[in-house]
Amino acid sequence: MSIFDELEGIHAEALQALETAASSAALDAWYTQYLGRKGAVTLQTRSIGKLSQEERPEFGKRINEIKQQLEAAYAAQSQALKAAELEAALMSDTIDITLPGRPVNPGHLHLTTQTLRQIYDIFGRMGFEVYEAPDVELETYNFDLLNIPDYHPARDMWDTFWIDQKQPAPDGRLLLRTHTSPGQMRVMRERYPEPIRVILPGKCYRYEQITARSEHQFYQVEGLAVGKHITMTDLIGTLTQFVNLFYGPGHKMRVRSSYFPFTEPSIEVDMDCILCGGAGCRVCKYTGWLEIAGAGMVHPVVLKNGGYDPDEWSGFAFGPGVERPAMMKYGISDIRLFYGNDLRFAQQF
Ligand code: DAH
Repeated sequence: MSIFDELEGIHAEALQALETAASSAALDAWYTQYLGRKGAVTLQTRSIGKLSQEERPEFGKRINEIKQQLEAAYAAQSQALKAAELEAALMSDTIDITLPGRPVNPGHLHLTTQTLRQIYDIFGRMGFEVYEAPDVELETYNFDLLNIPDYHPARDMWDTFWIDQKQPAPDGRLLLRTHTSPGQMRVMRERYPEPIRVILPGKCYRYEQITARSEHQFYQVEGLAVGKHITMTDLIGTLTQFVNLFYGPGHKMRVRSSYFPFTEPSIEVDMDCILCGGAGCRVCKYTGWLEIAGAGMVHPVVLKNGGYDPDEWSGFAFGPGVERPAMMKYGISDIRLFYGNDLRFAQQF
């Protein structure tokens, strides 16, 4: 076989092999095999020395033609293969823009917050502003200034969380407020001699056994109105309006005489049982009535402690809880559910 024939044979073989190179790796291997530094075509150039002077230019020319042709074929094949590989990658990585997005779970306000906001709204419409007093309170504000002397049962150490103080503070001992009533004193001392109409929402703390009916942390919304001609009728009217707006129209309300150290006279406010409508059931202990708040006319001593002369000024106060009204409104049987962090409970409201 002549050197020329051998060259043409390699050429034909290379073209055929190129057609079967179906991947980038196969194509690379093909290139090395034929056009690389030690490739079959490249090695052919060395055969030039075996040819006569006359044959050499023709052989050289032919070998260059073949190289160019193979390079071009290689480039075309390489481009086709890359396009095919890109296409395949795009097909397998497809993003389906018609798929619905994953829903985000945004959460919502806790039932206590919802209830507080309903209460703010109702009293806001009656001209009450929201006033925030501190959770950590002085003993005098929580007790003494509210006319709760040392021997009052509410002062029993078992009812109060005291704050550990390394050194005795000049203003007296600190505690976690056991009710929102100390806020009354703070508003009065701040606002005198203006008339007052505020609600004081907040968390209260009691060192108590936790049961289905009582938590050691709970909310209250204190109410306080101080003015020149305020009477018990204003108090009852305000609370009647609250019951109608919070529980809906058609409810009955009654007041009973009661005792609180910071009000005189004091009353207990009841409404007809939301469950049985007054017929009597287990929830209302067969009385037909549910207790909703303590209230009364601000005690003269408390007015005086707040800076208001009781001969000139009068006022009313009330102090309902927040969780219990919500329990009545939404039929919740256990107060522990409020802060048990069980989403199955929280999501229902
Ligand atoms: N502070 C009382 C308590 O925690 C509730 C209360 C009763 C508040 C009568 C008042 C009131 O303002 O007039 O039990």
